[in-house]
Amino acid sequence: MSRTLTELPSFPPDFVWGVATSAFQIEGAAHEAGKGESIWDRFCRQPGAIADGSNGDIACDHIKRVDEDLDLIARLGVDAYRFSVSWPRVQPDGRGAFNEAGLAFYDRLVDGLLARGLRPYLTLNHWDLPQALQDGGGWAVRDTVHRFVDYARAVNARLGDRLAAVTTHNEPWVMAVLGHESGIFAPGIRHRGTAMQVAHHLLLSHGLALQALRADGCRSRLGIVLNLSPIGPATDSPEDRAAAWLEDGRLVRWYMDPLLLGRYPEDVWQHLGADAPRIEPGDLAAIATPMDYLGINYYTRGVVSASGGWSAQSSGLPLTDMGWEVVPEGLTELLLRLHRDWDLPPVYVMENGAAFRDELVDGQVMDTERRDYIARHIAATHQALAAGVPMAGYMVWSLMDNFEWASGYAKRFGIVHVDYATLARTPKQSYHWYRHFLQSQRAQR
Ligand code: NOJ
Repeated sequence: MSRTLTELPSFPPDFVWGVATSAFQIEGAAHEAGKGESIWDRFCRQPGAIADGSNGDIACDHIKRVDEDLDLIARLGVDAYRFSVSWPRVQPDGRGAFNEAGLAFYDRLVDGLLARGLRPYLTLNHWDLPQALQDGGGWAVRDTVHRFVDYARAVNARLGDRLAAVTTHNEPWVMAVLGHESGIFAPGIRHRGTAMQVAHHLLLSHGLALQALRADGCRSRLGIVLNLSPIGPATDSPEDRAAAWLEDGRLVRWYMDPLLLGRYPEDVWQHLGADAPRIEPGDLAAIATPMDYLGINYYTRGVVSASGGWSAQSSGLPLTDMGWEVVPEGLTELLLRLHRDWDLPPVYVMENGAAFRDELVDGQVMDTERRDYIARHIAATHQALAAGVPMAGYMVWSLMDNFEWASGYAKRFGIVHVDYATLARTPKQSYHWYRHFLQSQRAQR
């Protein structure tokens, strides 16, 4: 433990350290206190959709254990806590009336953070769209863009005086492509044209929400969080290289170009043909509304071949329990590339972490692999910082084991162990390591 600790360089005093969760993955109380149904509540009921047949009805029971969880975050010694608001909890139908009990919960959460000296980083959309909006077409229809802006304004009106940062959307690529093209995530649609329309509406609603919040006098820092990876070819063949560049276009440039340059990448647009989105005059200018920060979620790299798309990993690198290669230098590579190709606002790693098979033995979880994963990615973040990338913060995914979407509860990302039979929380070795690391950073400030 001490070896990696002392080898890690010191970060600037204003660098923001955090830990992250999302509403659907931890909250539970899925059908209580006026909460509406979300597309993930519905998707979990679809036979075969979730690996272990589970759902988010109870999850980590965070709604009822919020004080205990706030204490865990405070003891960790982070500066910031990144969480999301469940849209159907605060506005059950996604339009019209708001649910006071839902808003009151987030009020209490935010006040609980501030009372403990923690900065709230709030995400508006971490995937759990109200099912009522999905019934009207969901993100594929333009009306949802305006519903999102209304929702964003209401959350800001209630909480905005106390938030350090607001993120519009978490991982638009995942919602668009995994939700509407491969269909392995909610709402489970399989149609590429729909996916690209969804991606456009997510980006548009991001830009319009930024404009509306600023017009409302919002003082929180505003941005978006993208899931990005360096994408490389499986071999040096021209076919694999072309396939990798196209995948980079769909994963990275499709979001970075409109957000920072106000245009879609021409090669991807051409490739999509009839599946390219319908856009209206002014959309791209709205999407390019300047952001206060850019958030990146990084877990692994991508290796792509012309024949098989994202290819199975055979590099000999260690794999996490998700089957994802452990590639810390991929994070440095990604950040340097973003810095080279775009004019970046301050950048946060808003999520980084790993699933491993943990065992609770004698009240302890010795998750050495996760601890090393985090330490190596913190070092990789520092390398980018030292090379001039405007890095502003780093957050671990996740505070505690939780509902890992289509994988259910079998994949554990937490630095705190959750026993799903008793809902008891037990900090793992990685939690203790991160706490010591943050103490040592503070001592150097
Ligand atoms: C990114 C997502 O934002 C989060 O919800 C998920 O649990 C992690 N990746 C791990 O897959």
